[in-house]
Amino acid sequence: MTTTSTNRAAGTVGDARVTGVIDGIRAQQDGMIQAMMSDPRNMAGFGISVSAFKGDTLYVLARATGAKWIVECASSFGVSTMYLAAAVRDNGGGRVIGAEIVPEKVETARKHLADAGLSEYAEIREGDAKETLADVAGEIDFVFLDGWPSEPPTLARTVIELLRPQLRPGALIVNDNIEDDYLDYVRDPANGFRSVTLPLLAPADAGMSNLSRSEFEFTLFG
Ligand SMILES: C[S@@+](CC[C@H](N)C(=O)[O-])C[C@H]1O[C@@H](n2cnc3c(N)ncnc32)[C@H](O)[C@@H]1O
Repeated sequence: MTTTSTNRAAGTVGDARVTGVIDGIRAQQDGMIQAMMSDPRNMAGFGISVSAFKGDTLYVLARATGAKWIVECASSFGVSTMYLAAAVRDNGGGRVIGAEIVPEKVETARKHLADAGLSEYAEIREGDAKETLADVAGEIDFVFLDGWPSEPPTLARTVIELLRPQLRPGALIVNDNIEDDYLDYVRDPANGFRSVTLPLLAPADAGMSNLSRSEFEFTLFG
């Protein structure tokens, strides 16, 4: 998920007085969003879930890699968790270990998993993923990183460092937000990853749930 209005094409209006007012409003709105997002608890009732086409992509990837032990950071209301838990079930069993810091969201995600009949294939660990994912008690086959963008060190960077010793050789990591400091880490050959950014072409009817970037970073360990 990405929130920015600064990366725009050159304006068409050509009137500095008009664009100055518009830019001021944008800066104010960006500031409000950033202040709200600085503490995830401010967004307890608001989830930004993967779109259907990204969820379908995750399901296919998890099936194709035969993943049985999956880690997800973070889970929000459990939408991506359900795609991954269904893949684990259809791979013959295993577990998704999800992480979510907002207690109300943890409760909602667990309810959604129960409603979908997937509770036995997923758990949501409540708390800061930087702590709850320190030991996932198994060799990880597949990771989905989908926290909120933040100042470095980002959650994605901290979590990939935490998970690295727990990855099986050949594990696949899919990162939705493609944070710069995550790229620095996985593109450094000393850390043992190979990584590539691939565009995803969203269907025209992807709708409002397609707020996130239309790329995934695919990272292979080993
Ligand atoms: C973009 S949402 C995840 C959406 C989810 N993957 C889905 O598709 O339904 C990001 C989530 O990260 C959670 N979060 C932010 N910082 C966290 C942290 N340090 N540990 C665990 N969860 C965190 C937020 O509360 C938010 O629900």
